[in-house]
Amino acid sequence: MSTNNHSNNSNSNSNSNGSSSDKINNVVITGASRGIGLALVSEYKARNAEQIIAICRNVPPELAKFYNQGVRIIDGIDVTDEAKVASLPGKIKHIMPNIDLLINNAGIYLEDSLEEIATAQLLAQFTTNAIAPLMITRTLLPLLQSNGGGKVAMISSQMGSIGGNENGTSYGYRASKAALNAFGKNLAIDLKRLGVAVFQLHPGYVDTDMTKHLGPITPKDSAVSLAKLISKLTLNESGTFWHINGEQLRW
Ligand SMILES: NC(=O)c1ccc[n+]([C@@H]2O[C@H](COP(=O)([O-])OP(=O)(O)OC[C@H]3O[C@@H](n4cnc5c(N)ncnc54)[C@H](OP(=O)(O)O)[C@@H]3O)[C@@H](O)[C@H]2O)c1
Repeated sequence: MSTNNHSNNSNSNSNSNGSSSDKINNVVITGASRGIGLALVSEYKARNAEQIIAICRNVPPELAKFYNQGVRIIDGIDVTDEAKVASLPGKIKHIMPNIDLLINNAGIYLEDSLEEIATAQLLAQFTTNAIAPLMITRTLLPLLQSNGGGKVAMISSQMGSIGGNENGTSYGYRASKAALNAFGKNLAIDLKRLGVAVFQLHPGYVDTDMTKHLGPITPKDSAVSLAKLISKLTLNESGTFWHINGEQLRW
């Protein structure tokens, strides 16, 4: 992921309707093992969310330490494995009766130029970055709608903005995030009547494994900004695409 691609653009009332308060009680985060997902676990802990579920494949010590602080960890979940995803409602409803906020954060970036693109890599990015968040959201819909309607935050990327693409390359990543945006917009329309809001969010250019630690923003700062933005967004803004700096992004 090149610097250019990311740096040049710049309590109880926990449902997504109208003027919701800052407090979100029940949060589910995918890709919680490291990077932005791990920082989001820490941020919602700091915000005193009542229940936080961290979904991951494996549990590194950095995530395990939150277990002692009340965060529940569901491991062994590859988000592209449909059977594992189908098992999630059963595991989650024992911990929380409803989900106020689902953050679909798990993602991959496989660097490619025009010469390098390969079907398997394109498909892997579509499956992880676009199809998995769609399937997870659909699977968790009964829990998302049960308390008047929760929020779904899709961790997208401004690299998925077709109108904002000035740098080329990264075919699979850009197209997979554009597909995620299309799924998110469609979900926003379909789920509005259920009170469930869906947002696409760009987390900034962040110092994580994905960017080979080249991003200038710390995962903590990104998570703080994401949580602030998520708290402000309501059902009225469902189906929109935002930068963490508060600017709305074009498709
Ligand atoms: N970093 C940035 O500058 C940036 C910019 C724009 C958007 N984003 C987006 O932000 C999100 C988080 O990125 P990051 O920078 O934190 O990346 P990261 O450090 O590479 O972490 C990626 C996370 O996704 C998980 N994941 C990947 N594939 C998975 C799968 N098949 N099943 C389950 N979990 C899977 C990883 O789990 P494992 O540990 O098991 O691999 C890890 O927890 C991604 O959606 C990314 O596209 C990041």
